Amino acid sequence: MKIAMIGTGYVGLVSGVCFSDFGHDVVCVDKMATKIAQLDRGEVPIYEPGLDAVMARNVAAGRLRFSTDLASAVDGADAVFIAVGTPTRRGDGHADLTYVMEAAAEIARALTGYAVVVTKSTVPVGTNRKVAQVIRATRPDAEFDVASNPEFLREGAAIDDFMKPDRVVVGVESERAKGVMGDIYRPLFLRDFPIVYTDLESAEMIKYAANAFLATKISFINEIAALCERVGADVKSVAKGMGLDGRIGNKFLHAGPGYGGSCFPKDTSALARIGQEHGVPQRITETVITVNDLTKRRMIDKVLDLCGGSVNGKTVAVLGVTFKPETDDMRDAPSLTVVPALVGGGARVRVVDPHGKREGEALLPGVSWETDPYVAADGAECLLILTEWNEFRALDLKRIAAAMITPNLADLRNIYDKADVTAAGFTGYVGVGR
Ligand SMILES: NC(=O)c1ccc[n+]([C@@H]2O[C@H](COP(=O)([O-])OP(=O)(O)OC[C@H]3O[C@@H](n4cnc5c(N)ncnc54)[C@H](O)[C@@H]3O)[C@@H](O)[C@H]2O)c1
Repeated sequence: MKIAMIGTGYVGLVSGVCFSDFGHDVVCVDKMATKIAQLDRGEVPIYEPGLDAVMARNVAAGRLRFSTDLASAVDGADAVFIAVGTPTRRGDGHADLTYVMEAAAEIARALTGYAVVVTKSTVPVGTNRKVAQVIRATRPDAEFDVASNPEFLREGAAIDDFMKPDRVVVGVESERAKGVMGDIYRPLFLRDFPIVYTDLESAEMIKYAANAFLATKISFINEIAALCERVGADVKSVAKGMGLDGRIGNKFLHAGPGYGGSCFPKDTSALARIGQEHGVPQRITETVITVNDLTKRRMIDKVLDLCGGSVNGKTVAVLGVTFKPETDDMRDAPSLTVVPALVGGGARVRVVDPHGKREGEALLPGVSWETDPYVAADGAECLLILTEWNEFRALDLKRIAAAMITPNLADLRNIYDKADVTAAGFTGYVGVGR
């Protein structure tokens, strides 16, 4: 199959690379010339484990190219995927569809024969029909179908998630489009991964419902964590005891500083807006959003309390600022709430993150960047773990405690146990929900 991938970000690049690895002929298009130039040099513009190797082997095999020229990529393509961003629209919490609709119009002008225009971006119910309208209005003669194919990959494990998905969801309205989508994903079905064919609206809803449900699990356990702190329970044990129940499951039950990232915050917000617009308020999702905001702010109080009520003039070493490990993505990361509050409170903040600096430098003004946790903690009054990178899971706590002025640990990912922390010489410790 000949595939054009419009938008070469976290989703478009991974999807394009993986489709080429299936054996398809793929052109990844982006309007950012610098990004395409980087890719042409063989450099991966994002940090995603394993992506560089799969990309390199498919470029070498001649199945994968990068381009800023949308028209030539669309020319003769069997399927054109839209994988552009759908950020939160400023002011009203809705998904901003500007990029999707611009891409749809550009694709329409470039179509040369029958193609399936597939929306991979996360979009509100009704968007695929709007994409079809835009294409029809721009090019009444175009021969095309639309398909909804939401993406469920997780940053940090994106290649594996794409190659071994729990399921593939495809919303289609014609047998012809179903056939094309079937051909594209055939290499996966050979390994027996389920594909859910449905209508456009259901496919669009599945993505929002799935993300809102996962966000609900996180906010739920974070609220339980706050209660655990009051009643003397340990949320780690509570989550374990809950998660062993097969009906509940142990995933997304880790108490922490609140969810962030490029999907949950904007998708829960968009779902809440969609519900309001249709007169069916999504009260659970609305509450999940509120609880997440409160959770992030509660983390600031934890650090302040640990530091005796104020961080003014104190040095805080922050380990991890990306929204989760194994990605450089800083979008809506809890660090963007917590760190500025500390800087605003007069703290000298030193940050260590294996891949966060490139994005984080502009987003976290007033901090200094270190590469070594031990150097960052030297002479500090508080060590704050915000992201559970593997690098931070087996620190020599004794060495760190000895080097700090006041050995305080705020472990907001519950990596360490209080007994070990205390035994290592820390005099102050706070976790989440314990
Ligand atoms: N990031 C994730 O983990 C993830 C997971 C599942 C779904 N999604 C969804 O996938 C979509 C894309 O997310 P992302 O994180 O990859 O976004 P991103 O911001 O990383 O990438 C989007 C890219 O599209 C490009 N672009 C915009 N308009 C274009 C146009 N007209 N022509 C060519 N290129 C254009 C931008 O320059 C950018 O490089 C969003 O709807 C998101 O919700 C993201």
